[in-house]
Amino acid sequence: MRAHVFRVLAEKLDRLFKSSHEHNIVVGTERRIVRLHKLEAAGLDILKAAGIELDNRPGLKGADLLAAIRAADGAIVRSGTRITGELLESPGRLRCVVRAGVGVDNIDVPAATRSGVIVMNTPSGNTVSAAEHTIALLLASARHVPAADASMKAGKWDRSKFLGTQVAGKTLGVIGLGRIGREVARRAVGLDMNVVGFDPLVTPEKAAEFGIKAVATRDELLPKCDFLTLHIPLLPDTKDFIGKRELALMPKGARLLNVARGGIVNEQALADALANGHIAGAGLDVFEEEPTPANNPLLKAPNIVLTPHLGASTVEAQEAVAVEAANLLVDFLTRGVIQCAVNMAAVNRAEMDEMRHFVDLARRLGMFQAQTAVGSIRKATLQFR
Ligand code: MLT
Repeated sequence: MRAHVFRVLAEKLDRLFKSSHEHNIVVGTERRIVRLHKLEAAGLDILKAAGIELDNRPGLKGADLLAAIRAADGAIVRSGTRITGELLESPGRLRCVVRAGVGVDNIDVPAATRSGVIVMNTPSGNTVSAAEHTIALLLASARHVPAADASMKAGKWDRSKFLGTQVAGKTLGVIGLGRIGREVARRAVGLDMNVVGFDPLVTPEKAAEFGIKAVATRDELLPKCDFLTLHIPLLPDTKDFIGKRELALMPKGARLLNVARGGIVNEQALADALANGHIAGAGLDVFEEEPTPANNPLLKAPNIVLTPHLGASTVEAQEAVAVEAANLLVDFLTRGVIQCAVNMAAVNRAEMDEMRHFVDLARRLGMFQAQTAVGSIRKATLQFR
């Protein structure tokens, strides 16, 4: 009797394994991705060379977006497309979403994780461009470049109105000492600025390598800043990270820059601080709502330099992120290699080659469990080393 049960079970498992292999997109031969934004030619060439079918659907919305996503193994997106929990609820054959860029706040990452969809980003391609744009806003704000330009074009020659401030010898506070924050710091040191930084994940020794004097808290940093720049993601914890209270902690006449994400600086609080003169100027590239609505209080605020999310908008950065994104997709869809995932531990190629058989074993055990368990599985605990 027991032998019979095991034989039946073995046959059943065998059929299951065969069918799972037929449907396994990682090792299968047909791979299709949907591109929801423009991708530079260098990235397209990589996908083409790997034999990946490309469904070009920029600007797709609603039911069409859902259908296109469900029919693809991977999707490639920029910040303009929202990959919502609803889209990810029943993802069809979708196995990964690659964000050509850094911020993944346009993707419902917890929903992706629940559906087994891997979310990857391209963390390095636009670092330098974002850092350079921060410096551009820093200098533009310190020297009133856009306002002076507009004034001249209006036929004026108003030298006294645009008295600026020198940045050399001033203190730049950097919140967030990741790739971009560090590159901004290096450039600021080159401008003879003193750089202080706050990032709970970076040691003072590491910060010092980039010429940054680390402080332990945001509130310790703010009173030191002649200029403040933020390089942190938008998360529930960082929403309104700089609000009325924090702006009040900055010295009168300080300036603020944000090339990271809208929402980490409270827009009304900043507009008020600019209007009452406590904050002397600001340079912003990102907004809580993008494209920014006409009634955003910052559009009418004094002494503010605004750009429409141009941090990564350089020929070099766009090409670099396209290549990075295409390589991530090809590696994952053709070899099962996962890199730069934001909802899975990073696994490098060599480790992945070693782990592949264990991953396969875990998948088979999961299917076995699903067949033999009584009732529905409500919770699974994964232990790994
Ligand atoms: C990024 O997150 O990579 C930049 O903000 C640029 C973008 O959103 O495309």
